[in-house]
Amino acid sequence: MTQEELFKNIISHAKEYGFIFPSSEIYDGLSAVYDYGQMGVELKNNIKKYWWDAMVRLNENIVGLDSAIFMHPRTWEASGHVGAFNDPLIDNKDSKKRYRADVLLEDYIAKIDEKIEKEVEKGRRKWGESFDEEQFRATNPNVLRNKQKRDSVHERMAEALNANDLAALKQLIVDCEIACPISGTKNWTDVRQFNLMFSTQLGSVSDESGTIYLRPETAQGIFVNFLNVQKTGRMKIPFGIAQIGKAFRNEIVARQFIFRMREFEQMEMQFFVRPGQEMQWYEKWKATRLAWHKALGLGDEKYRYHDHEKLAHYANAACDIEFDFPFGFKELEGIHSRTDFDLGNHQKFSGRKIQYFDPETNENYVPYVIETSIGVDRTFLAVFSAAYKEEKLENGEERVVLKLPAALAPVKVAVFPLVKKDGLPEKAREIMDELKFDFNCQYDEKDSIGKRYRRQDAIGTPYCVTIDHQTLEDNCVTLRDRDTMEQTRIPISELRGIIESKVDYKQLFKKM
Ligand code: GAP
Repeated sequence: MTQEELFKNIISHAKEYGFIFPSSEIYDGLSAVYDYGQMGVELKNNIKKYWWDAMVRLNENIVGLDSAIFMHPRTWEASGHVGAFNDPLIDNKDSKKRYRADVLLEDYIAKIDEKIEKEVEKGRRKWGESFDEEQFRATNPNVLRNKQKRDSVHERMAEALNANDLAALKQLIVDCEIACPISGTKNWTDVRQFNLMFSTQLGSVSDESGTIYLRPETAQGIFVNFLNVQKTGRMKIPFGIAQIGKAFRNEIVARQFIFRMREFEQMEMQFFVRPGQEMQWYEKWKATRLAWHKALGLGDEKYRYHDHEKLAHYANAACDIEFDFPFGFKELEGIHSRTDFDLGNHQKFSGRKIQYFDPETNENYVPYVIETSIGVDRTFLAVFSAAYKEEKLENGEERVVLKLPAALAPVKVAVFPLVKKDGLPEKAREIMDELKFDFNCQYDEKDSIGKRYRRQDAIGTPYCVTIDHQTLEDNCVTLRDRDTMEQTRIPISELRGIIESKVDYKQLFKKM
């Protein structure tokens, strides 16, 4: 199965089992907007809890916040979003289709990369056991030619983006002879900037003074509340403010399912530090965040750092934690050293003093900020796609199982009476009524036990409990493990403890 086919299967599984639906589907959906179904909302909430507790509960010097989506319009002038939160766009005059110029070039580079990999594969097939990949890559003329071409396009693109040189971007697209995937022509407009913020009108004001924006990041709600939280919480630097909430961006290239959406959710933490100490905190948060990801157990090799070549307008250092999605390594989380850009600008634009008096140094200063910023939806996609497995069983049957980290599973335990009679449903209900105080449970008495197991595998339930006739005599049940499919007979009194030891978030936190 190709990665593309696998990704398609993952998307249909997400829909079939109530994780993710296209938004307003009965009207044919709304591009790049999705709804989370009955299973999806549970998984999403569990991801948010894992992040929130790792930040706010486990760190004495990090507190939470829930600020409004609408903010005073000057916020976005101060933050630089009105002036600089743009994507470079280009239209094809024949298809009338609009593209991000940098994405057209990235796709072009990805095609060259594919050619290189195909050449290496050819070599591997030709030379078999004796194939020396490193030497092949360093000497094969086709690989070298393509690599040189790739590096040159990449370098020119980075230069043009860094210098905000739109004419140079257009020239590069022309030089690479990139054609519109729809019309097939190279009839392009000039490249121009397009602001990604959604705007709307406040109340009854209909002129420009009433224009407000849907926040494109949650971070600004934290910055404008810096003094409120610092003073009322008597916070001492270094300290952090964490927030989870919706953000909105009018993305031009919205694709890859929930990877790039127009309405999405962020989990952001701004960590305020003494100026000059930002680099040590930047390194610390890079390591801490990677450990948080790896503790999920999806595979250490699925993560890598990627340092930014083009720094955002507010940063003096920045990197991404990338994840190996079914469509390749892509950004999952950003860690940014944002200097005093935001607080400094809010001070300037609002006319209010936004400073911290440091009792250790006897100085007033505008704190520097390290930000960790991760998308809830992207984390969902990372977890869901890595957990999705199509397995062939020993008896020749096949099963689709979501090997989700147990703490994140939407349902922790399913309770089945073996048959729908002889008092077994009543006993099963009794057990479920006890377990439901601690865990999200599902009761199921329909179809064979095998079919019920498959249904729970498909939504990632770590444990199934079966009640049979013997249970009425010895108060023991069969506990079945999702991953090993092993079944063990245990007393009902031990159920809670066994399940808890597997699904508790503590298991994840201990690995961090
Ligand atoms: N406050 C900094 C900030 O917003 P960003 O790199 O633009 O930085 C942070 O976004 C994270 O938010 C990304 O790493 C990604 O996980 C998520 N994200 C950004 N745009 C997104 C989109 N259109 N759809 C889904 N998630 C998105």
